[in-house]
Amino acid sequence: MNYNYHQDLNIVRMNTMPDRAYYIPCAPSKNTTSKENNERVLLLNGSWKFTYYPSFAEASLEGVSDNVLPVPSNWQMYGYDKHQYVNIDYPIPYNPPFVPKENPCGVYKRTFSVELTEEMQFHLNFEGVDSCHYVFLNGVFIGYSQVSHSTAEYDITPFLQDGENEIAVMVLKWCDGTYLEAQDKFRMSGIFRDVYLLQRPQHHVRHYVVQTSLQQESATVSFKFDDFGTALVKSVKILDAEGRAVAQGETCDETLSLTIENPVLWNAEQPYLYQMVLDTLQERIIDTIGIRTISAQGNVLLANGQPIKFKGVNRHDSYPDTGYVASREQMVRDLQLMKQHNINAIRTSHYPNAPEFYHLCDEYGFYVIDEGDMESHGAWSSHGFRDNDWYAVVHHDPQFQTAIVDRVQRLVTRDINRPCVVIWSLGNESGLGVNTLAAVDAVRKLDSSRLLHYESKNFMPEDQEKFNFDILDVESHMYPDLEYTERLAQENKKPLILCEFAHAMGNGPGSLSEYYELFYRYDGFAGGFVWEWCDHAILQYDASGNAQYLYGGDFGEVLHDGNFCVDGLVYPDRTPHTGLLELKNCARPVHITRAGNTFSAENKLDFADLSDAVTVVWSLEQNGTKIAEGSIANFNLAPHAKAPLPLSLPPIDGARVYLKFEYLQKAVHPLIPVGTSLGFDQFDLSTEDMSVSLPVSHSAVTAEQTPTGWLVNGETFSYHFNTALGTFDSFKIDGIECFDRPAEFDIHRAPTDNDMVEAGIASYGQNSWKSLRLDAAYAYTYETVVEQSNTSVTITCPLSLVADRAAPFCNIQAVYNVYGSGAVEVSMHVSVRKDLAYLPRFGMRYFLTEDFQNCTYFGYGPQESYSDKHAGSYKSMFNATVPDLFENYIYPQENGSHSGTEECTLSNANTTLKAFSTKPFSFCASEYTREELAAKKHHFELQKGGCTVWNIDYAMTGVGSGSCGPYTIEQYRLTEKEFVFDYMFIPRRNL
Ligand code: GAL
Ligand code: MG
Repeated sequence: MNYNYHQDLNIVRMNTMPDRAYYIPCAPSKNTTSKENNERVLLLNGSWKFTYYPSFAEASLEGVSDNVLPVPSNWQMYGYDKHQYVNIDYPIPYNPPFVPKENPCGVYKRTFSVELTEEMQFHLNFEGVDSCHYVFLNGVFIGYSQVSHSTAEYDITPFLQDGENEIAVMVLKWCDGTYLEAQDKFRMSGIFRDVYLLQRPQHHVRHYVVQTSLQQESATVSFKFDDFGTALVKSVKILDAEGRAVAQGETCDETLSLTIENPVLWNAEQPYLYQMVLDTLQERIIDTIGIRTISAQGNVLLANGQPIKFKGVNRHDSYPDTGYVASREQMVRDLQLMKQHNINAIRTSHYPNAPEFYHLCDEYGFYVIDEGDMESHGAWSSHGFRDNDWYAVVHHDPQFQTAIVDRVQRLVTRDINRPCVVIWSLGNESGLGVNTLAAVDAVRKLDSSRLLHYESKNFMPEDQEKFNFDILDVESHMYPDLEYTERLAQENKKPLILCEFAHAMGNGPGSLSEYYELFYRYDGFAGGFVWEWCDHAILQYDASGNAQYLYGGDFGEVLHDGNFCVDGLVYPDRTPHTGLLELKNCARPVHITRAGNTFSAENKLDFADLSDAVTVVWSLEQNGTKIAEGSIANFNLAPHAKAPLPLSLPPIDGARVYLKFEYLQKAVHPLIPVGTSLGFDQFDLSTEDMSVSLPVSHSAVTAEQTPTGWLVNGETFSYHFNTALGTFDSFKIDGIECFDRPAEFDIHRAPTDNDMVEAGIASYGQNSWKSLRLDAAYAYTYETVVEQSNTSVTITCPLSLVADRAAPFCNIQAVYNVYGSGAVEVSMHVSVRKDLAYLPRFGMRYFLTEDFQNCTYFGYGPQESYSDKHAGSYKSMFNATVPDLFENYIYPQENGSHSGTEECTLSNANTTLKAFSTKPFSFCASEYTREELAAKKHHFELQKGGCTVWNIDYAMTGVGSGSCGPYTIEQYRLTEKEFVFDYMFIPRRNL
């Protein structure tokens, strides 16, 4: 093939029609916006003949292949070519406008039939093709377009023949647009969104823009039509949600203005939509209209004049089984999960989504930052590794201007009528240059009713003084730490947004509640968007049909970014991660606070009165058992208002008394069943601390020396203390061994993704856990002193934790008191080496026999919890099996710990072992050792350890979001240099 538009920066399209707003027309008097069962739409989705060529040069329209490929799809999902995941870098040489000669090409072919008439035109639409396409009809070249995530439309009327026609589409993997599409994702190809033919009358409205403005008691809805200057008669009717006409008018002009009295406004909480019926003689267009304003007053972001907060996420089109293809069902599922987790805003990172997506956001209520298909920081690594001088080169180079401007024009023109879109975003991570300014102008010309966003203004290596940030309407940042975030929130002149924060990779994000606290503390803080919604991975099945997820590097790619794509709030199959539960409660609709005996509720919604939105229920638990409950119905509370709750609690007396308020969905919403829990607050009302008295036993306990230590015997037990290890290596209750192998001191954990730098996985930092050798620590004991009384044996063992090459990490004075009942009091006085900034954890791990499967604990649950990640968990007495406690991260890592634990028991059929401390601790019980978790790169490679690994930790460092952003903040790291860790170990023989 000798077409070369795909290597020409000035040609971004050939023979396409002018861009227009998205809509699906229908025949007059019909009532549909669907692509199906609509006589004006011929949907060309389905099976196409498909021939794959490793290079465009070899491709031919003549080639006949019997292979078929579904449209929409990505061909890599069907075994053609191969997957590659790269984040920032270009997967091809940085040599614009050229792309590799080995440029994979898919030739798609199919036939369809039309009946030609004088009156009708036929417009061929592609909603998404990666990376570009050449279209042919009956062998004749029709046109070309790039910009993967935007619509291309062709008038093919003159090329059609009555009856059967053959369409052929050549799709190329790379084009010069690839330099503008360096988004962090699997780089897939093909026709991945709908393809269809619209049948339009010769005279029709091609494009229309609906803008709304508010007066005291009315709204003006103004229409601007493009009918090619044909003075077509356009009649418009606006219907309310009940189908009543509330305004109508007719015009031959290009504009029309209608008034709606007492309009109901659209917002994300109450997404009220009107219907527009636009009739011309031979066609009808139905659309929805939402009346709302979006503005900035000073640095406060307002919707309909009311300050709002974005409780947002970044969303990619990414599904483990369909790649970029997002069916309506898949999109609704995402939105439903978001709604049920209190998410009210989406940034379409980093490209326009399918047009239908915005209709769903209108309908279900989401604020959208709609982002252009633009990301070019691959140039950063083009002259050595990430050289800042090259970051913004594409935005600086005027040769790219046509293409960059085209991308935002396509974005704005297509989605201009969607009320959900409140902010346009120029793109992501491309730096700032002359082309950015041109793109800003282009957006402003098309739409002045929305705000403009571009985070990458922060990156502009040269000519800084030339650029004026006033060109943007919001101040946006990525991954600032809390301190810097707060400074931004104190100084911002424009609404502050974190367009990305709380990198949700693996076990995390930590400190989400601290960020949310800042959102609420500062009026000028409009909230943020967690990075990101879903894990990207490719699904395959093993021989037994188990799902396996693959990521970068699993396809033999040379350049790849490993599992950096596995960083979402939901697993690829949309199972929520524990991070999503954390986000859910941070974004809960109500906050309840306590002052003495008064509990006050604050309505954190921006528009709905509390009595309309949620029912507040409460329950009182003592030691995990419910002792009272109630509900507070119809509590009127205006948005953002705070008031004391009417509440009468029974008298409270005792330990572990917790009051929990829960917020249940009350309003009717299609995606949230009434009664769904939207979050909670919990208060500790205990009047005393829990104490456990050691089981009394008058039976004797003795100690006798063995070659390796001391055997401590009682009537019902026999424990062996190992003097070299400084701990027990055998634990028999009624003759039955509980230990699989000796217990150990433990100061390390299987690094989480967020530990990658600190642990020394990403780079071998000087003070990384790896270079410090924390992972190799073992005990070095100095002496063992055994004292015996009538009722107990006391073993005192000073020791250090050491590793080859390293100085001792800590010195421990370990004291074990063993009582006649078998109970053991463990007391450790620990001094940590001063130069160690912090420890990942400190505790003991016991390797119990694998039949210890049942766990009961009083602590933060039911999902895993960490010192900086327990906003979504609450304190209660939980029961779980050891497998249930496991969080199966795609990339194995530390998981399943529970902070704030006061007691934890593990049991098998014979024995129950209880660990108890008056100072809350962290525990973890797992079938996998931390060494196994650390060694394996995929969930499906894990081998069980043949035992139950039980960690009882004085503390576990929090999880932070250090994979891309701040590491665990100081207060949640185990930084203490001197501490005492006391706990009791109480065995019980099961009856
Ligand atoms: C950001 C970028 C995202 C994603 C993230 C890391 O800098 O905007 O697209 O790459 O980093 O997961
Ligand atoms: Mg990027």
